[in-house]
Amino acid sequence: MTNRRQFIKLSTSALGAIVVPSFPEVIIPNQLRTNGKNITANDETYWRLVRDQFPLAKDKIYLNNGTMGPSPYPVIEAVKNTMMDVDVNGNYGGWAQAAARLEKFLKVNEGEIALTHNVTDGINIVAQGLPLKKGDEIILTTHEHVGNAFPWLNRARQDGLVIRTFTPAFTADETLKRIEILINKKTKVIAVPHILCTTGQILPAKEIATLGKSKGLFVFLDGAHGPGMIDLNLKHIDCDFYASCTHKWMLGPKGTGFLYVKKEMLDTLRVAFTGGEADNGKWNMTTDPPMMGDYAPTAHRFYYGTQSSALYAGVVAAIEFVESIGIQNINERITSLAGYFQQEVMQLDDKTEMLTPTEQKSRGAVVAFKFKNIAYDKFYSIAADNRIRIRMVPENGINCVRVSSHIYNNKEELNKLIELVKRYA
Ligand SMILES: Cc1ncc(COP(=O)(O)O)c(C=O)c1O
Repeated sequence: MTNRRQFIKLSTSALGAIVVPSFPEVIIPNQLRTNGKNITANDETYWRLVRDQFPLAKDKIYLNNGTMGPSPYPVIEAVKNTMMDVDVNGNYGGWAQAAARLEKFLKVNEGEIALTHNVTDGINIVAQGLPLKKGDEIILTTHEHVGNAFPWLNRARQDGLVIRTFTPAFTADETLKRIEILINKKTKVIAVPHILCTTGQILPAKEIATLGKSKGLFVFLDGAHGPGMIDLNLKHIDCDFYASCTHKWMLGPKGTGFLYVKKEMLDTLRVAFTGGEADNGKWNMTTDPPMMGDYAPTAHRFYYGTQSSALYAGVVAAIEFVESIGIQNINERITSLAGYFQQEVMQLDDKTEMLTPTEQKSRGAVVAFKFKNIAYDKFYSIAADNRIRIRMVPENGINCVRVSSHIYNNKEELNKLIELVKRYA
């Protein structure tokens, strides 16, 4: 019997009916390529060149990368060119190349990445797929994004699970203690963010995974803000599952994400939805009874059907763009910009309250704070009126404003916001 995978192979090699698009060469200006060299955080000439790669409107200041990361031209071109290739030549497929490229970028084993469309997709696959029963407990924070809260609340309601929460402390050590205190005999899962969407605090991912493993728990990280912000090595963190996207800090096409599933966890996680390419090619409807064969032997079992060749070509381009600058250079630049902004706001400590920790390992590219005399939504509107885009954080009564800057930002832009903060505080 000719199954889908054999058909694609056959068609490609023999019939020529289906041709996988070859992802276009990613055009990155030579001056941008650092070739592993260190670029200092205040090398404004270099960072201006980086800014020039973005079509971002020049008359606005975009400080909301935590919600959506605008793409640079090389990513947009890769998407456009692949879309043309698909629509002009009738080519199909190619997205598995993006999964393989992501595996290298994230330093995981071959076959440990499933493609998804956003972070929430990956969270749902894990929340629905783990073998949990009534009374089992799951640990989350009081700082969740709806995308991590709701899938677990949903599973809890469906199966009578219990959600326990903690509020992250200002230091990594104290945060870890707060998790440890919540663990008891009924605890089965730790499902926390790697980096909080509210304050940008980086939680001690490796220590959380080690703690979870030592207690026999499943460890899931909501990694919405990890890749592209920090030099991520999932093997080193050693969690069981990590859900993320490329449309924030990786600056990839919107609606592209991935789920890391550690190899040892493949058969533990129930496959709720399945179909073409999630199979191992052995299904057969002509036997009696019809035969399913098995799932793909990799994390590919968690995605299925047609994906967007163009968007995933953009994912590959986004990885190349990030790597051509160097993730460490990026991390230093954006951590330095955020640190500058944080220090400026903290000088107004009689008028503002800083919510993002100052501890080096707990802070990244996001700063969140409150005003003592002015409502967060009011200041959000003031910033918007001044053509500055930040984010309000009304979730769980946190009621602060969040500023997230990336490589296309600079101090001048932050200074404009600081001026407003000073004027209105
Ligand atoms: C921590 C966190 N988790 C999950 C999500 C949901 O991401 P997505 O819209 O890609 O599903 C977000 C989005 O901002 C987030 O910040």
